[in-house]
Amino acid sequence: MPILQTSLCDLLEIDVPIIQAPIGGAAGPALAAAVSNAGALGQVTQPYSIDLPGVRQRIKETRELTDRKFGVNMLLMPRGEPHQDVEMRIERLNAYLEEGVPIVSFFWGDPSPYVELIHSAGALVLIQVGSVAEASAAADAGVDVIIAQGWEAGGHVRGEVGTLPLIPRVIDAVAPTPVVAAGGIADGRGLAAALALGADGVYVGTRFVVSEESAAHPVYKKKLLESVESDTVYLTDLFDVGWPDAPHRSLRNTTVVNWEAAGRPPSGQRPGEGEVIATNGGVNPVLRYAIAMANSDTTGDIEALPLWAGQGVGLVNRIQPAGEIVRELVEEAEQALRRCIDLVQAVD
Ligand SMILES: Cc1cc2nc3c(=O)[nH]c(=O)nc-3n(C[C@H](O)[C@H](O)[C@H](O)COP(=O)(O)O)c2cc1C
Repeated sequence: MPILQTSLCDLLEIDVPIIQAPIGGAAGPALAAAVSNAGALGQVTQPYSIDLPGVRQRIKETRELTDRKFGVNMLLMPRGEPHQDVEMRIERLNAYLEEGVPIVSFFWGDPSPYVELIHSAGALVLIQVGSVAEASAAADAGVDVIIAQGWEAGGHVRGEVGTLPLIPRVIDAVAPTPVVAAGGIADGRGLAAALALGADGVYVGTRFVVSEESAAHPVYKKKLLESVESDTVYLTDLFDVGWPDAPHRSLRNTTVVNWEAAGRPPSGQRPGEGEVIATNGGVNPVLRYAIAMANSDTTGDIEALPLWAGQGVGLVNRIQPAGEIVRELVEEAEQALRRCIDLVQAVD
């Protein structure tokens, strides 16, 4: 029987206020469905390397695995001329909506060209932001939920402010729009802390990369299990092939160490630039410094690929079924919140 509920649960029709963050290739139908089946919100990513029939297929597969609500992600970073980007994205969004996707989550750009389209299909819009200004603009654009991402987060990092100061600032700026906290939340104590800050829920990424259902490569999962917070590094433009000008956080691996040893040269002059170090899906070559993450179908020098990780990685200690992660987060959060209530009573 779920106890830990916020208004976000009513809005998204979930039992507990936990959203599995879209975590690149790791977040396929199996992970999203497992999370949704456990009462949280699972999300499927749709990398642009996947064509429209593939996009539809991933949604259908997810629906076959769960009757619960799930989200589908879309990245809004520039890919060409702005008007062409908008047209291309509307085409993909129409595919999402025709397949009955109930929740669309955006990241890295302006959601305003798409909000009305999604609402007119009866679906909800989430967007992840990295600053108060971006959050306010998103609220003005009419999004339903704002995810505020702190600097601790793994993967691409939108802003430069930590989760702790960012969340209350965003809440104050966009009320009554619900706010979800992202970045460095990897156990139930983090969930409790986010709720104490006034957030309506949490967005959890790194912890779910290390779930059984995640499609991340086993070597990448093992690296995450062996790492602690000080093993992550914030990089402004190192893994930039395929997505330039986008800061990110990953583990300090051999690619990072060799670049640092070479004096941190700029793009175009880095050690091993242009070298193929892996293959995705048996056919697609992956260059050193590419954003491509190591999935189960990746072969080659896995360790040298971007090993995206948030600072919460030190709290991630074993591979578990995603449903167990959801349940553990809730139990730990309840314990943490009860401890806080006891503190108040002790003072009374
Ligand atoms: C491996 C990985 C891949 C990610 N890929 C995406 C993505 O495709 N789309 C997206 O919106 N966010 C992506 N993110 C960022 C997450 O949405 C979220 O901000 C982050 O995981 C939260 O921090 P945490 O990892 O400390 O939990 C990714 C994060 C990780 C760790």
